[in-house]
Amino acid sequence: MLENLAQQPADALLALIKLHNADPRSTKIDLGVGVYRTGQGDTPVFAAIKGAERKLVDTQDSKAYLGPEGDMGFVHALKPYIFGNAVDMSRLEGMQAPGGTGGVRLAIDLAKRAGVKRVWMGTPSWPNHAQIVAAVGLELKTFRHVTPEGTADLDALKAALTEATADDAVLLHGCCHNPSGVDYTPAQWDEIATLVAQAGVLPLLDLAYQGLGTGMEDDAYGVRKVLAAVPEAMIAYSCDKNFGLYRDRVGAFYAMTRDADGLPAVMSNGAAIARASWSMPPDHGAAAVRLVLEDASLTAQWLDELDTMRARMRQVRDKLAAAGRIGPIDMTPLGHQHGLFSMLPLSGEQILALREKHGVYMAGSGRINIAGLTAGNIDAFLAALADVAG
Ligand SMILES: Cc1ncc(COP(=O)(O)O)c(C=O)c1O
Repeated sequence: MLENLAQQPADALLALIKLHNADPRSTKIDLGVGVYRTGQGDTPVFAAIKGAERKLVDTQDSKAYLGPEGDMGFVHALKPYIFGNAVDMSRLEGMQAPGGTGGVRLAIDLAKRAGVKRVWMGTPSWPNHAQIVAAVGLELKTFRHVTPEGTADLDALKAALTEATADDAVLLHGCCHNPSGVDYTPAQWDEIATLVAQAGVLPLLDLAYQGLGTGMEDDAYGVRKVLAAVPEAMIAYSCDKNFGLYRDRVGAFYAMTRDADGLPAVMSNGAAIARASWSMPPDHGAAAVRLVLEDASLTAQWLDELDTMRARMRQVRDKLAAAGRIGPIDMTPLGHQHGLFSMLPLSGEQILALREKHGVYMAGSGRINIAGLTAGNIDAFLAALADVAG
């Protein structure tokens, strides 16, 4: 039986990590994997998380099962940061999920159970979005996310929403678009909120990088605008980037229903899907986040660490943008893009040349991790880029 299974292609980004690890050059630059790095190239545990973990070790008196919803203290502690005052909280509930990925998977599974047939999504997108839609068995409909000028293509989204029907969902990145770094502006979100409400489609909002763009509040603008305009929506949230918890798999799923009476049935379906998929989410990271958010000094420390990350990425972006033109590549849009990622319009040959000749590792799509660049390697990166593309 098992011989019926065909070999699947290796995940391109994971394969890139292996290639990078095997490269003996001390000057190699890793712009592939999507984790934040300090100016020294490290991905340290947040000090606020370390503090919370110490507290957890001292105070946690049981590791007995919590249930498919996970740590509801964690789920509720995040709510003010994500939703502010934009939502009638009697119509919104959440549950913990294994990472933002688990949140997206739950949202798409639930959309299918609810009768959604197609999911609209701007491309390029995080590759796992399309994989999850396919795995759940929904039809994927795409529209262009980025104009050739490097801004968000609102017209393409408008056209998609005109074509969309009541059986459709639309998947939108809340902020720090992966892979392009190109976010909708606040004015565009204002329009999108009205358009999504008029189209009557179900919004699936993926907020995986809150705090890594322009700030915790600003990064929630789009999600809050859409939620204030529509009757129902689903939100996938990740704490893996903004709390640096990647491997601990910390995320959440929230649903907003038309009225409070509709909420228990939706959440019971969420719990049933979780039970049949991962049964219960991993506890440790979510418990640490809860402890951070329950303690004012740990919260302040966490927000301070987030500010430092954001300021560093801003510095890198400013320096890249200041390079102006490198051959045909206009670097200036990188200065006003957001989050960990941006894309460079490079051919496959140029990406290969960057890797083989210069030890610069990036995804085949031309996506670069902004936080992979430091004061120590950014000049070498720009010189390598000029060599292959200039
Ligand atoms: C857009 C987007 N959504 C969701 C996720 C999931 O994050 P995680 O499962 O690591 O929490 C990612 C991670 O790269 C992402 O880029």
